[in-house]
Amino acid sequence: AASTRYEAEASPAVCTGTIDSDWAGFSGSGFCNGDNGTGGHAQFTVNASAAGTATLKVRFANGTATARAANIVVNGSTATTASFEGTGAWSTWATKTLTVPLRSGSNTVRISPTTSAGLPNIDYLDV
Ligand code: GCU
Ligand code: CA
Repeated sequence: AASTRYEAEASPAVCTGTIDSDWAGFSGSGFCNGDNGTGGHAQFTVNASAAGTATLKVRFANGTATARAANIVVNGSTATTASFEGTGAWSTWATKTLTVPLRSGSNTVRISPTTSAGLPNIDYLDV
C-alpha cells in the first residue's frame, strides 16, 4: 500500500526542541531540531490499519562527523535502535529505514536520543 507521510512539524507530532527551516531541502514547512541532550526527542502518532510489522522511513540530516544514536520507542517500549550517521551537511538529507511492530489503530513512535549530542534534525516519518 502507499505510505503515509508524517511531518515532524505537524501536530500531533511532538518536537522537544524547535521547528526550524534554516537548512534547505526539508519537506513541508520545517524540521525538528531537537534539543541537544537525551531529552530532545521527536514523536509521531501513526495509524496502522492492522497489527503487524511495519517499515518506517525517517528522513534526517546530521551535519556533524559523529553518528547520533537513538532508541525507537513504540507505544512506550523500545522496539529497535538507530544510528543516524553524519550526512555531510545539515542541508544534506538521508533516509533511515526501520522495522518495528505496530498495533492496529493509533501508535506513538518516539525517536529518543541516547547520547548528549541529541538527535539529528528530523524531517519526516514515512509509514
Ligand atoms: C547546528 C544546526 C542545527 C542542529 C545543531 C545540532 O546548530 O544549525 O540545525 O540541530 O547544530 O548540532 O544539533
Ligand atoms: Ca539539534
